[in-house]
Amino acid sequence: RTTAPTSIVVFGGTGDLAKRKLFPAFFNLFIDEWMPVRFQIIALGRKQYSQEGFRAYVLENLKEFSRNNKFTEEQWLSFSEKITFLNFDITGENSFQNLNDKLTAFDVECNSRVNRLFYLSVAPNFIDSVSTSLKKAGMADEVEKDRIIIEKPFGYDKASAVALNELLNQNFKEEQIYRIDHYLGKETVQNILAFRFANTVFEPLWSNRHIESVQITVAEQVGVEDRGGYYDHSGALRDMIQNHLLQILCMVAMDAPVEFESSLIRDKKAEILKAVRRIKPEDINHYTVRAQYTDGEIKGNPKQGYKQEPGVDPNSSTETFVAMKFYIDNPRWQGVPFYMRTGKSMAQKKSCVIVNFKEVPNKTFANGTDSLRPNQLTINIQPEMDIRLSFMTKKPGLDMTLNPVEMVFDYFECAPDSPEAYETLLIDALDGDSTLFMRSDQVEEAWDIIATIQEEWKNGTYSPIYTYAAGSWGPEAANELLSRQGHRWLSATMEDLKEEY
Ligand code: BG6
Repeated sequence: RTTAPTSIVVFGGTGDLAKRKLFPAFFNLFIDEWMPVRFQIIALGRKQYSQEGFRAYVLENLKEFSRNNKFTEEQWLSFSEKITFLNFDITGENSFQNLNDKLTAFDVECNSRVNRLFYLSVAPNFIDSVSTSLKKAGMADEVEKDRIIIEKPFGYDKASAVALNELLNQNFKEEQIYRIDHYLGKETVQNILAFRFANTVFEPLWSNRHIESVQITVAEQVGVEDRGGYYDHSGALRDMIQNHLLQILCMVAMDAPVEFESSLIRDKKAEILKAVRRIKPEDINHYTVRAQYTDGEIKGNPKQGYKQEPGVDPNSSTETFVAMKFYIDNPRWQGVPFYMRTGKSMAQKKSCVIVNFKEVPNKTFANGTDSLRPNQLTINIQPEMDIRLSFMTKKPGLDMTLNPVEMVFDYFECAPDSPEAYETLLIDALDGDSTLFMRSDQVEEAWDIIATIQEEWKNGTYSPIYTYAAGSWGPEAANELLSRQGHRWLSATMEDLKEEY
């Protein structure tokens, strides 16, 4: 349990993230007794709510979004009395004064200057004024006690991310700033480090000597839903590749840190991002594929194309799908392609990492064994949560026929009720552990990696924008990206493997 009494302030307290993720996460942590014994949550928002009205709204959302919806009345009542709603104008000095009064009152109640956690779940253009006002009011001046969590998007490109970092660094120390990437809070993503660095079996194979290629897929079945306005100015490259997929890449490719310690781990991740080869403008078309979904069908229901989605420009050229190839120029990974793809309105919801090992060098089983296939290690991130190793065996019988089989560790079977990503990250932030958050240099490197692509796609010189039917696996060009090199997108489960082989 986190011990230090804390005031939690949620800017954007009536927003979508607070409703779906933050309040459910705080509530589950509270029920599981991870929250500090003494805490308050102040939700700030522009809407008008009475205290009772806001608590009723939170309760309604918990019923819908909390992973634990069998809570008791008593649990809810003791949680709800920690919540205060404050009608708030981000640009108004009075609002900050009111907030300050509430924070000070809680300090008095607790007889000490308690910790403060400010969650900035606001549009990027407000981060400047909020952080400056917090600084001006002296509300977050205690480096050891006061932390500020920043939601993505963290900038729009490298220059804006650098400017944002500079601004935040004027107001806070780097150790106070927690840049969130919720993929790092997922159990299965964190487990990549345990799997790699707490076993002797896999790490010796983890290099270009034994690995042919690595594939990272984050496919979503949902379209842009009600986020068309935001998404149309973002696109899949900024929304997913720059952050979530590159963070997964770091977990898969980084070297072992000397200790499991925040700055050491973050140093190793930053090293990988620095080693990712920057793609030259003239090579963009060779290394990347962008596409947009058109009318199609998902789960038997018709799905309209991206350009018809609410909030989207009917002439939009924003990509809803990206497939690309990266190389990491260090001794471990030289020459190994890292393929990535992500998209909206795709055939399945599926996030996974597939490590494709090299073919056996000897020809022992070369005759009559077309099914001979290289070992494949699959890390299923979601919705399946498992690790699968495929290998060849002799099919039981009188002749020597080979067959691929799998060994599976199913996370979900072991822990069907494992914590949500936001629970993990919030507890870490309350505890002052920044291991799973992004440091300024990582964010800037990640923007740098995609900078030429952003630029080229804006000018449209080299890369066409392809289309794919909603409910499909993306455009044919994404397959060609791999087939040019004798590769193809691999399936993540044996069910699919059986169909293929
Ligand atoms: C967010 C993106 O960061 O991640 C969304 O902005 C995306 O567009 C979401 O849908 C995916 O998260 P998850 O946890 O549902 O895979």
